[in-house]
Amino acid sequence: MTKYRIAWLPGDGIGNDVMEAAKIVLDELKLDADYLSGDVGWEFWKKEGNPLPDRTIKILKETDCCLFGAITSKPKEEAEKELSPELKGKGYVYSSPIVKIRQEFELHTNIRPCKAYKGNPLNYRDDIDLVVFRENTEDLYCGVEFHPLPKEVMDSLLKNHPQMKRFKDIPLEDIALSCRIFTRKACQSIVRQAFKYARKYKRNSVTLIEKPNVIRETSGLMIREARKIASEYPEIELWETNVDAMCMWLVKNPQKYSVLASSNLFGDIISDLCAQLVGGLGFASSANIGDDYALFEPTHGSAPKYAGQYKVNPIAMLLTVKLMLEYLGEGELAERLENSIAQVIEEEKVRTYDLGGTASTLEVAQEVARKVSSNE
Ligand code: NAI
Ligand code: MG
Repeated sequence: MTKYRIAWLPGDGIGNDVMEAAKIVLDELKLDADYLSGDVGWEFWKKEGNPLPDRTIKILKETDCCLFGAITSKPKEEAEKELSPELKGKGYVYSSPIVKIRQEFELHTNIRPCKAYKGNPLNYRDDIDLVVFRENTEDLYCGVEFHPLPKEVMDSLLKNHPQMKRFKDIPLEDIALSCRIFTRKACQSIVRQAFKYARKYKRNSVTLIEKPNVIRETSGLMIREARKIASEYPEIELWETNVDAMCMWLVKNPQKYSVLASSNLFGDIISDLCAQLVGGLGFASSANIGDDYALFEPTHGSAPKYAGQYKVNPIAMLLTVKLMLEYLGEGELAERLENSIAQVIEEEKVRTYDLGGTASTLEVAQEVARKVSSNE
């Protein structure tokens, strides 16, 4: 079998701490892989005016998949202020590397499992097992935004939509517009992935989370496509909910739900809610999957106040490694890793601060590695 080539992008802050933890466990699993380190994040924005240098894109193109830590992002004005002096005023504009990678590599599906592991004191309930499928390249995150609103865009909207009349006398500099773009293909794709997953893992429902009663065209398209796809999976029920109500239901009865599917923004919000039900950011893993490439990252960010202190929980990252192993077809290793993580959680001995413990990031990883070795 050929050796895997994995792009290794720790990024900023605690991204480095948790990637070190990942390496401890990957080495213990003896995954036959080369890890190719790439530059990404705030340091490269400040020094080079680009948080995702072309040389890093090249590494991504030459690898099977990528393991990603976290990056720091700041608003436009702050970003500009932190550029090194010789780059200031030269038209550099900060944009998020992770959003760019998702779009450039067409990583259309974001999978975020949220499972309550036995013995986790932070579980909201112990019987929660949710998997969020979030569309990853469109919606309000597509980047088609205006401020001020160009006159041509205003004129065209006035010409094409009666509801726009309300805004006709507002000065263009006082209007900002972000476009919520959905394509039929992306709607079909996210719903299909969710149903395929439900079939594979014998889950009995897929809940589509949108807001078609108000956002009629985009959410409407998603719902219509979902109903067509659902008809191909008669053994799985399609439940349709509005995103606002769903936040309430997820707090009331999270154990009733199984596979959740949504668009980019709603999926982002819902998945943070789901993550908190099973322990929060220290437990939230995610996979960004495309047809030809995939990137795996914990849901949390760079948590600057903990950077380099090896205090944060590595379990989110270790569960992310599990998702990567599944993607690579290493099902046995993935299962062994998940069982080992579950054992460490249940034993309550080696725990980071978020679980009330005093162990370091690397001590938790070493404990998981010991289980990995004894479970062989
Ligand atoms: P964050 O996720 O970095 O941290 C928020 C808080 O959550 C931390 O202060 C900590 O208390 C807790 N936390 C996070 N990860 C943890 C872990 N593994 N174990 C235990 N506790 C953990 O979010 P924040 O502070 O809003 O953002 C910090 C930076 O990260 C920002 O620049 C933001 O833009 C960026 N960010 C990057 C993401 C990415 O790389 N995909 C995602 C989210 C935020
Ligand atoms: Mg988020």
